[in-house]
Amino acid sequence: MIASYVVKLLMLIEVLMSGARLHVDALSMGYYDMSCPIAEPIVRDVVDQALRQDPTLAAGLLRMHFHDCFIQGCDGSVLIDSTRDSTAEKDSPANLSLRGYEIIDQAKQMIEDQCPGVVSCADILALAARDAVFFSGGPFYDIPQGRMDGSRSKIEDTINLPAPTLNTTALIKMFGQHGFNIEELVVLSGAHTLGAARCSSFKHRLSNFDSTHDVDPNLDSNFAKSMSRTCSQGDNTPMPLDPTRNSFDNAYFNALQRRMGLLFSDQSLFADPQTRRFVNAFAMNQAMFFFNFQQAMVKMGLLDVKEGDEGEIRLDCRKVN
Ligand code: HEM
Ligand SMILES: *[C@@H]1O[C@H](CO)[C@@H](O)[C@H](O)[C@H]1NC(C)=O
Ligand SMILES: *[C@@H]1O[C@H](CO)[C@@H](O)[C@H](O)[C@H]1NC(C)=O
Repeated sequence: MIASYVVKLLMLIEVLMSGARLHVDALSMGYYDMSCPIAEPIVRDVVDQALRQDPTLAAGLLRMHFHDCFIQGCDGSVLIDSTRDSTAEKDSPANLSLRGYEIIDQAKQMIEDQCPGVVSCADILALAARDAVFFSGGPFYDIPQGRMDGSRSKIEDTINLPAPTLNTTALIKMFGQHGFNIEELVVLSGAHTLGAARCSSFKHRLSNFDSTHDVDPNLDSNFAKSMSRTCSQGDNTPMPLDPTRNSFDNAYFNALQRRMGLLFSDQSLFADPQTRRFVNAFAMNQAMFFFNFQQAMVKMGLLDVKEGDEGEIRLDCRKVN
C-alpha cells in the first residue's frame, strides 16, 4: 500500500519535472492561454461530438498524429492535400487508410472563427489525438503546444513509416532513429489497442509465410482461421487490432501473450526476448501502460517540431498558405 503511494509520488514528480523541462527547451504548456484560450476546448468538443457519432475515428486521429510526427516532424504535413504538381503523403499507395481529416477541418474552422491565424494545424492534430485517447478510456495528459505548420508533404517521404512486416530488430532500429528506446517502442505500439487493420496488412502471415512455414508459427491457430475468414472477403476487409477496438486498454498486450496479435510487427514484440518483458509488464499492469504511454506520446509530439519562423500557421489545414 505504502509502496504504491511512493511509486505514484515518484511518478508525479517525474511528470512535473519533465513538464518543466519541456517548458524551457521546446514548446510550452498553455501556449495559447493568451492568444486563443478557447482552442483547446473547441478541439475537445469537436472530437467528442465526432467520436460519439463514430467511435472508430479515435483510432484514425491517433494514427494520423503518429504518421504526421514520423514524417518531417509533427508539422501537420499529413493533412496537406495533393496538388497538380505534387503528390502528398496522404496519397501514398500504401494509402495509409488514414481517417478523421474532417474532424481536424471542423476544429480548425471553428478556431479560425474565434482567433484567426493563431493556432497551427499541427497543434490541433496533436490535441485531437490526445482527446481521442481520453475519449476511448485512456489517460488524459497535458501536451506542450506551439508547433508551426510545415509546407512539405511528399509521397516519397512515407517510406519512413514502419511496415507491418518488420520484425522487432528492425522496429527497434527505426524507433531508435527517432530517439525512442525499446520500452517506448513497445508502449507506443500499444496504440494498436484502438482500431483495425485491413487484410492487406496481415495476409502475408497466412500463406507462404517463409521457407519453412506456410502460416506464421507465432500465430494462434484459431485466430489464424478467423484472419483467413476476414481475408476471404477481400484485401480491404478490416479486422480489429485487439479484441476491444474502441477501448483504450491493455487488451492489446494480453492478446499478444495469447499469440493473437494481428500484425506480424505486433506479435514479434512478444516473440522477441528484448521486448517481451515490456509486453508482459503492460499486460499485467494497465496503469503502468497508461503512464508510460502518455510520456511517450508527449515525446513523440515533440519530434522535429518547427518553431517560430521555421513554419507557418496554415489557414486551411489542407493547403500551404
Ligand atoms: C511499431 C510500428 C508500427 C507499425 C508497423 C504500424 C503499422 C500499422 C498498420 C499496418 C496498420 C493498419 C493499416 C491498415 O491496414 O489500414 C496500423 C493501424 C493503426 N496504427 Fe499503427 N503501426 C505502428 C505504430 C503505431 C504507433 C506508434 C501508433 C500511434 C501512436 C499507431 C497507431 C495506429 C492506430 C490507432 C491504428 C488503427 C487505425 C484505424 O483503425 O483507423 N501505430 N498500424
Ligand atoms: C485510398 O484512400 C482514398 C481516399 O480515402 C480512397 O478513395 C481509395 O480508394 C484508397 N485506395 C486504396 C488503394 O485503398
Ligand atoms: C529481422 O529482419 C531483418 C531484416 O529483414 C533480418 O535481417 C533479420 O535477420 C531479422 N531478425 C530476426 C531475429 O528474425
